[in-house]
Amino acid sequence: MKVTVVGAGAVGASCAEYIAIKDFAAEVVLVDIKEGFAEGKAMDLMQTASLNSFDTKITGVTNDYSATANSDVAVITSGIPRKPGMTREELISTNAGIVKSVAENLIKHSPDVTIIVVSNPMDTMTYLAHQATGLPKNRIIGMGGALDSARFKYRLAEALECPASDVDGMVIGGHSDTGMLPLTRLATRNSVPVSEFLSQEQMDYVREETKVGGATLTKLLGTSAWYAPGAAVSAMVQAIANDANKMFPCSCLLDGEYGLKDICIGVPALIGKNGINKIVEIDLDDAEKAKLQESAEAVRKTNGLL
Ligand SMILES: NC(=O)c1ccc[n+]([C@@H]2O[C@H](COP(=O)([O-])OP(=O)(O)OC[C@H]3O[C@@H](n4cnc5c(N)ncnc54)[C@H](O)[C@@H]3O)[C@@H](O)[C@H]2O)c1
Repeated sequence: MKVTVVGAGAVGASCAEYIAIKDFAAEVVLVDIKEGFAEGKAMDLMQTASLNSFDTKITGVTNDYSATANSDVAVITSGIPRKPGMTREELISTNAGIVKSVAENLIKHSPDVTIIVVSNPMDTMTYLAHQATGLPKNRIIGMGGALDSARFKYRLAEALECPASDVDGMVIGGHSDTGMLPLTRLATRNSVPVSEFLSQEQMDYVREETKVGGATLTKLLGTSAWYAPGAAVSAMVQAIANDANKMFPCSCLLDGEYGLKDICIGVPALIGKNGINKIVEIDLDDAEKAKLQESAEAVRKTNGLL
């Protein structure tokens, strides 16, 4: 499998590193607009190959899309990240132009590619990638829910005082501090609902900390996080490589599912070699349904800024 990662910054490089360490891809091409930057990141990563025992070949190019030709998967991480105090939505004026031109360049050289959009505001950038490329709706996937769910599981494990591997849980809705919807009602520890172990107050705390998970890290780091975002993207790329039919909440173009149309927003989906195999419609209670609709309204408002 050939994977292109556009944007060799914090998230793009972390994504390339996890893909290489898991050793499932033949080739990763890093692309950046900053002269020499992707080449440098690629060389640095390749110098870990003998230490980390991988065979994946990583190369870097400066804005040369011919090197990305015939990619199976392309990850778009190009654009500016948040600074402390900023919302993801505030990035739209810079990132929309970048994501549009990158998506257009990618499909010129890889007409059969599956695109994973990471740049923020991610749901709107995923919608924009659809508009810019006209690719079938299964072949563009927004990454947000996989990360938000990992952060949810981290907070659940902390509250339960258990390893994160004991915990299952999912976050749907828009990838924003106010729009995301951690599904506490459905979260489990080894199949037992977490409500058996946690008080309402503890579950409320977990939900609220999950929603501001990105902002908390941005405040600590001075820029947005990269390890968990990179790991989340690489897990999705691996599901495509292995045709795993693995479920991730991710931003999908909806056509009536969950009562929503003509919008990209986080819902559970099965991911395999064709990208999105199926959108999974789960039974939400009335409060969850109302929150998802509210979240969709906010995403539509951001889409209106395109
Ligand atoms: N969806 C998510 O869950 C999630 C998580 C973390 C970060 N993000 C987003 O991912 C994006 C990248 O974050 P980061 O921390 O890696 O930022 P970064 O600044 O470290 O890296 C971004 C890179 O994009 C490059 N770039 C800019 N314009 C380009 C273009 N036209 N073509 C190619 N490369 C270009 C820059 O030179 C830079 O190296 C941000 O928009 C951030 O908000 C999303």
